[in-house]
Amino acid sequence: MELDPKTVPWRERYRIMTGSIVPRPIGWVSSMSAAGVYNIAPFSFFNAACAAPPLVTFAPMRDSDTGNKKDTLQNVEATGEFVINIVTEPLLEAMDRTGEDFAPEIDEFAAVGLTPVASTIVKPPRIAEAPIHFECRLVQVLHFGDGAPGSGSLVIGEIVHVHVDDEILEGGRVLAERFHPVARMGGPNYARPDVIAYERKF
Ligand SMILES: Cc1cc2nc3c(=O)[nH]c(=O)nc-3n(C[C@H](O)[C@H](O)[C@H](O)COP(=O)(O)O)c2cc1C
Repeated sequence: MELDPKTVPWRERYRIMTGSIVPRPIGWVSSMSAAGVYNIAPFSFFNAACAAPPLVTFAPMRDSDTGNKKDTLQNVEATGEFVINIVTEPLLEAMDRTGEDFAPEIDEFAAVGLTPVASTIVKPPRIAEAPIHFECRLVQVLHFGDGAPGSGSLVIGEIVHVHVDDEILEGGRVLAERFHPVARMGGPNYARPDVIAYERKF
């Protein structure tokens, strides 16, 4: 199959991209609105970007029906702060539910039964049930497209504080086999990426 992306609707491009670019890590973002309402949402357009300074990125697309900015992006632009929580297999269902479209005035911790715990530096709380948290300050937001559904933004944040459960650490390394990470595949599927396919020999 050959495809000129300009000739197909954005949803079709999205399906080919998200079916092919797998497995994707999940940044489970907790944020707070200017009015102080807690919010949680997962983003699989998420990754590490730099170590000095320590940067992460995630990409909230516009709402696929209305073209509105998602609550997470509005919160991050309003407050300049967010927390990346790392998802584990026992948290899959709760994480998936935070991908639903809740109204901005709904506290998503309360809505899905997760526990907010105070962050050390930033105002948005961490998700207590997650074993790893990166407290982040906004560095930059880049906007792409014309703001219609299908377009989106790239949020770049600097990690200003790290929390890792001691149980999953050994000699300064985070051991995936102890925290059971999950990753997003195409469509509704999630994968277990802690199966080692090959060990590098150099
Ligand atoms: C596992 C998972 C990954 C997701 N990744 C993204 C993503 O990378 N970008 C995006 O715009 N939406 C993504 N979504 C959808 C958002 O989480 C969803 O639109 C959510 O309601 C946004 O919440 P908010 O309005 O509170 O920010 C994902 C959903 C799930 C369940």
